[in-house]
Parts: sequence; C-alpha cells; structure tokens
Amino acid sequence: MDKDNKRIALVTGCTGGLGTAICKKLYNDGYRVVGNYLTHSRGEAWSAEMQAEEYNISIYQCDVTDYDKVGEMIKQIEEEIGGIDVLVNNAAITKDGQFKKMTYERWDLVMKTNLYSVFNCTRHTINQMIERHYGRIINISSVNAQRGQFGQVNYAAAKAGVHGFTKTLAVEVAGKGITVNTISPGYIATDMVMSIAEDVRRKIIESIPVGRLGGTEEIAYLVSFLASEQSSFITGVNYAINGGQHMY
Ligand code: CAA
Repeated sequence: MDKDNKRIALVTGCTGGLGTAICKKLYNDGYRVVGNYLTHSRGEAWSAEMQAEEYNISIYQCDVTDYDKVGEMIKQIEEEIGGIDVLVNNAAITKDGQFKKMTYERWDLVMKTNLYSVFNCTRHTINQMIERHYGRIINISSVNAQRGQFGQVNYAAAKAGVHGFTKTLAVEVAGKGITVNTISPGYIATDMVMSIAEDVRRKIIESIPVGRLGGTEEIAYLVSFLASEQSSFITGVNYAINGGQHMY
C-alpha cells in the first residue's frame, strides 16, 4: 500500500501499447501505478503524455534483463512508494525470422527480455509479498506460446516458458495470499503487430474468427479482473484472449 492506502501495481514495459492500456486501467481502478521502461527518451515522452491525460503514474527506468538492476529498482520503489501488491510482467520484444537463419543473439535477447525478466522482477518482489501475505502476479504470454507460428521459435519458447513459471510459482505461493496467472493475448493492435509486413498481417487477421485485431483495453480489462482482491481463488491459470484464433 502507498501512503494513501492504495494498492501498488508495477507494470513492466509500460510505454508499449499493452503496457499503456494496463497502466491506465489499473489507475482508473484506483491503484497507485508504477511503470517500468527501458529507454530514457521514450519514458520521458510517455510520462508527459500520461500527465497531460491526468494519469499520475511514477516511472522507473531499468533494463529488466539485468537481475541486479531490477533488484535496485524494486528496492527503490519499495522505499519511495511502498511494497508492490500487483506485478504485471508485460515487457517483451520480438525478433522474428525463420529458425534456420536465427542468430544466437536474436534467440538470447528474446529469451532474456521475455522470460528471464519474469524471473528477475518476480524474484525481487516475491519475498515482500509473502511477508505481507498478499500479491497478484500477472504474466503476459502469447497465443503463439500455445501454437506454432512461422518465424517465432525464440518468442514462442520464451512465452511458453512464462506459463510453466506461472503454474509452478502458483503452487508454491498458493498458501501465502498470492495468485499467479498468465494472460495469452492473440494479435492485438499494438506497434509490435503493426510492424509485421502488411500482406502477412492481412492473412493473420483473416485467420481470426472475430475478424479483427484485439484492442489493448480488452487485455487490460482482464488484467484488472485478475489483479482484484476478489480473484483470490484463481491461480495458475492461462487465459487465452485471441478472438477465437486458437482454442484448446
Ligand atoms: N508458413 C509457411 N511458410 C511461410 C510462412 C508461413 N506462415 N511465412 C513465410 N513463409 C515462407 C515464405 O513463403 C518464403 O518461402 P520461400 O523461401 O520458399 O519463398 C519464406 O518463408 C520467407 O522467407 P523470408 O526469408 O522472407 O523469411 P524470414 O526468415 O525473414 O521470416 C517472417 C519471415 C518475418 C517470419 C514473416 O513471415 C513474418 O513476419 N511472419 C509473422 C510472424 C508473426 O506472426 N509474428 C508475431 C509478431 S506480434 C507478436 O508476437 C505478439 C503476439 O504475442 C501475438
């Protein structure tokens, strides 16, 4: 809780499309929202936009692939704002391309950004949550962790790892007032999806039964539900939210 008795939510990768929508929704729900970002110029521009829209969100720069730096960031948030009640592990990148041409660097960067970051942020947060006997951890995975997607061996491997992480941690902290869940968005109208070549993207949209890309606010709505105190009996679950593109 912060000094005004509000629950504190940390959203990693806050400047992206999903991160922004999640921050805004949690802010509107009454949380004290803290955003993590990577690039200074982007973070500052984002913060100015949020302020102009009257969202009072504190931001902390940190490369979530760096275990020690994440530790410093979490400590600073705890000292300056308070203990984190809700952690949304959202930061992620793509480095798409066929496996036969994939470099070690593209594999490594995606694994570190999309999977190691989940370990780094959660590991530095969990003991405080255990002490306070309360926590909500929400990990953002992907439809492409559940099915094959041409060009995404690195991304699919990392995002599938995220849900394995969720299930095991959920078991370990179930008796401590902490829930751990995964959300697996399908194709959402973000810069990440809009950067796919137009002809490829058109074919992908044709394969979505709902007939369109998802909206970022549709994912944020599910985050808000899982973050709530009332969701205390839901843990270790993977929520598919993909417009019917993949059912299992
Ligand atoms: N299935 C089968 N073959 C395919 C294919 C597919 N879906 N897509 C491309 N190919 C084939 C082409 O026909 C072509 O074959 P030939 O060489 O025989 O002509 C070849 O692959 C293309 O070769 P390139 O050298 O151009 O391929 P590349 O290694 O550069 O990779 C790609 C192409 C970048 C992966 C491109 O196909 C692409 O962007 N695909 C979409 C990937 C995608 O969906 N990414 C999701 C990003 S958003 C996200 O990840 C969020 C989320 O969680 C959903």
